[in-house]
Formats: sequence, C-alpha cells, structure tokens
Amino acid sequence: MDNPIEQFLSWWQQAKAQPNLKQCSAVCISTIDEQGFPSGRFVDLKAVSDAGFTFCTHLGSQKGQDLRRDPKVAMTAWWDALGYQVRVKGLATEISRADALRYWQSRSHDAQLTTLACQQSQPMSSLSDVTNELCTLSAEYQSQAVPLPDDWGGFVVHPLSIEFLTFKESRLHMRELYQHENNAWSKTLLQP
Ligand SMILES: Cc1cc2nc3c(=O)[nH]c(=O)nc-3n(C[C@H](O)[C@H](O)[C@H](O)COP(=O)(O)O)c2cc1C
Repeated sequence: MDNPIEQFLSWWQQAKAQPNLKQCSAVCISTIDEQGFPSGRFVDLKAVSDAGFTFCTHLGSQKGQDLRRDPKVAMTAWWDALGYQVRVKGLATEISRADALRYWQSRSHDAQLTTLACQQSQPMSSLSDVTNELCTLSAEYQSQAVPLPDDWGGFVVHPLSIEFLTFKESRLHMRELYQHENNAWSKTLLQP
C-alpha cells in the first residue's frame, strides 16, 4: 500500500475482527516530560484519518501538560494476535471543543462521572474521598446529562513517520517505514 493511513486502518480493522483481542484500540502514547524523559502510557485510540490519530484525555493530566509544553509525540501499537507493530512519530494538537463534546457524549454515564470526580495524575490522598465525590455526583446527575468538563478533551497526533512491522518467528521481520516530506509519503524498507 502507498498510503500508510490506509494501511493502519486496514490493520486496525483486522485487529477489531480478532475474537481474542480485548484491547484492540490500546496504543502507547509517549510524551516528553518536564525533565526531558520519555513517558509512555496506553490510551484508547478513538479515530484515524489523514489528519492523524485521535485520543481523549484529561488536558491537565501529565500527558496533557507534556503535550501542551512540547507537542513532540510517539504512538506505538502492538496487536499480538496478528504480529503487527506500528510506530508513529509526530506532533500533537488539541482537538476542537466540538469534537471533545462529541467524544464526551459517546462515553458511558459512569465514565463521565469518574472523569468529573477525578483530577487525573494528581496525588490521591484517600480513595474514600473520591468514592464519596462519585456518590454525590451520581445523585446530582441521576437524571441529567453530565456536562463536558473544561479540562477534558483530546489530541490528534499528526504523523511525520509511520513504521509497520510484521513479526516473523525467524526474526526476519518485515519493516516498512513511511516518511512524510513535501506533502507526500515515501516508503523505505528497514532491516529487521
Ligand atoms: C487499555 C488502557 C486504555 C486507556 N485509555 C485511556 C484513555 O483513552 N485516556 C486516558 O486519559 N487514559 C487512559 N488510560 C490510562 C492511562 O494509561 C494513564 O494511566 C492515564 O491517562 C494517566 O496518564 P498520565 O498521568 O501520564 O497523563 C488507559 C489505560 C489502559 C491500560
């Protein structure tokens, strides 16, 4: 395939079709922290298009703060059942508030309440404080929609390079590196 976005979509589709793959949309997002260390964690990939790879999160979380300070980002996916690895390098931008609202409304009521009750990545002095807050919010929003919090949204990873690896038991993995230059993708094969 000449277009790596189409290739990603095809692999993601195959992953979704795997009956034994529970987290087919989990991707590792690596940011650069305040000390310059890489910092990786899994998130749920929401959408993929020519614009890039979208995920949602608390904007005030560590990753949110990292990306607001430095948009350089890496995204890594591994689908064990298929033997497929994808590595994306790119720059992140925040999604619009309209898109954030759309994703917010696709979340379950419980997930919305948990998001509202927590300040992701901040120290937690007691679990019971959080569960009490959840009870209060649950009563408050029993029969009404939970509003989109100002500090919840998402990011799009605009890819500069995308590498696809097909795992081979012989270790002669197939590695295809796509690089985005002058508005076009070029493809290079890499030694395993
Ligand atoms: C399978 C999986 C999916 C996850 N999806 C998300 C997600 O979509 N958004 C998110 O903010 N955190 C998600 N998390 C939690 C993150 O891995 C992480 O713990 C959290 O976002 C805080 O990261 P930070 O402190 O580096 O910002 C997920 C964790 C796992 C294991």
